[in-house]
Amino acid sequence: MSEEIKGFSKLSKNEKIQWLTKACFDNNDRAKKILTKYWNSDESLQNLHDDFSENSITNYYLPFSIAPNFLINKKVYTIPMTIEESSVVAAAGKAAKFWMKHGGFKASVIDDEKIGQVHFFYHGDKKIINEYFNFIKPVILEKTKTITEKMESRGGGITDIKLIDKSSDLSGYFQLFATFKTVDAMGANFINSCLEEFAYVFKKSIKLFDSNKLKDEDIEIVMSILSNYVPNCIVKTEVSCSVEELNSLEPNTPNFANKIIKAIHIANSDVHRAVTHNKGIMNGIDATVIATGNDFRAIEAGAHAYASRNGRYQSLSNAFISNNTFNFELTIPLAIGTVGGVTNLHPLVKLALEILKNPNAKELMKIIACVGLAQNFGALRSLVTSGIQKGHMKMHLINLLNKYDLSIDEKKLAIEYFKDKTVSSSNVESFINKLR
Ligand code: MEV
Repeated sequence: MSEEIKGFSKLSKNEKIQWLTKACFDNNDRAKKILTKYWNSDESLQNLHDDFSENSITNYYLPFSIAPNFLINKKVYTIPMTIEESSVVAAAGKAAKFWMKHGGFKASVIDDEKIGQVHFFYHGDKKIINEYFNFIKPVILEKTKTITEKMESRGGGITDIKLIDKSSDLSGYFQLFATFKTVDAMGANFINSCLEEFAYVFKKSIKLFDSNKLKDEDIEIVMSILSNYVPNCIVKTEVSCSVEELNSLEPNTPNFANKIIKAIHIANSDVHRAVTHNKGIMNGIDATVIATGNDFRAIEAGAHAYASRNGRYQSLSNAFISNNTFNFELTIPLAIGTVGGVTNLHPLVKLALEILKNPNAKELMKIIACVGLAQNFGALRSLVTSGIQKGHMKMHLINLLNKYDLSIDEKKLAIEYFKDKTVSSSNVESFINKLR
């Protein structure tokens, strides 16, 4: 495997598999059999999937699940969720059902501003760079018109460009810091195209300025790229009910409502807990982000940075009691889209959006935030009552059983047997050995 393969991307799919079989499987066709099993029999659908990414050799399935009973701003939604982890969808559905009986989720988009930056270096007089920026800003906006026209006709576009002096953090470092509205698109392509044009015009137009003050070599552009940290592209969702109503959900856990609040306080005081707490929120967020064809890496990166906005990584959700009412809320940045990317291409993404009644981006932001809050409620509910393993193990058992080739009756016997026993892979193995 030490030899470099040249021109790999130009090989056909079959040739790539052939190479892989030789390079990683000693020419054994086991891998090929598995890979081709996942090919779709509809050739055009398969071609569509192959074209999503480079060097694709097969499809990778994840479950596409649905969680019903989400009452959001008085509308009932069924939520598509794409996730491999057991118990997540069940927990979301269970939480949604409870909150449906208590008025549902109230969600609102606080703002949907996106951000992009041109990073450059300049070591000269700060007055001059400010002067040049003010001189060139209208030119930049004018020259970008061909890119922004269509977005402007839809109600979006560039909202501002500022010159930011970062030289106290890093010698000579400056930014063109731009803000955008991208309406129903996530906007990555639009923003990056605008930024690259800004950088080009910013550098090329130096000659239009005063040559005694600024020369071409004084400005070094390093890169132009959107930021996935979008603290002004945020959505808030909340649920509430009386403390008694919440406590009656878990009669065997005294002060259930207070325990949930304590769980939040713990996440706010300890980074190890906060990361896991927020991971639970992201279980729901990512599942819906993926089902709706959005970029979950961008959402993850932005959410965790937002959790650190006060200089310390803390819980994204909050809970408190006021006037005997238990309030539970989540505020999170979500830069997502309902047009562009794979949203108009992937048949399951299109279906997911249809299940959600074809929301616009702001509606989808609200829906996704509610799934995150439901997921957090479900996780905290389990954690402060029976513990997470009880529910988890039921699903885990199915996964463990699926490693064996069991008949339906054998599976039923196993599920019955493990109702009151500890689920572990060794216990499952010895049960099956006894069964056979
Ligand atoms: C597991 O995927 C998620 C949880 O760990 C979240 C949490 O601890 O809050 C259960």
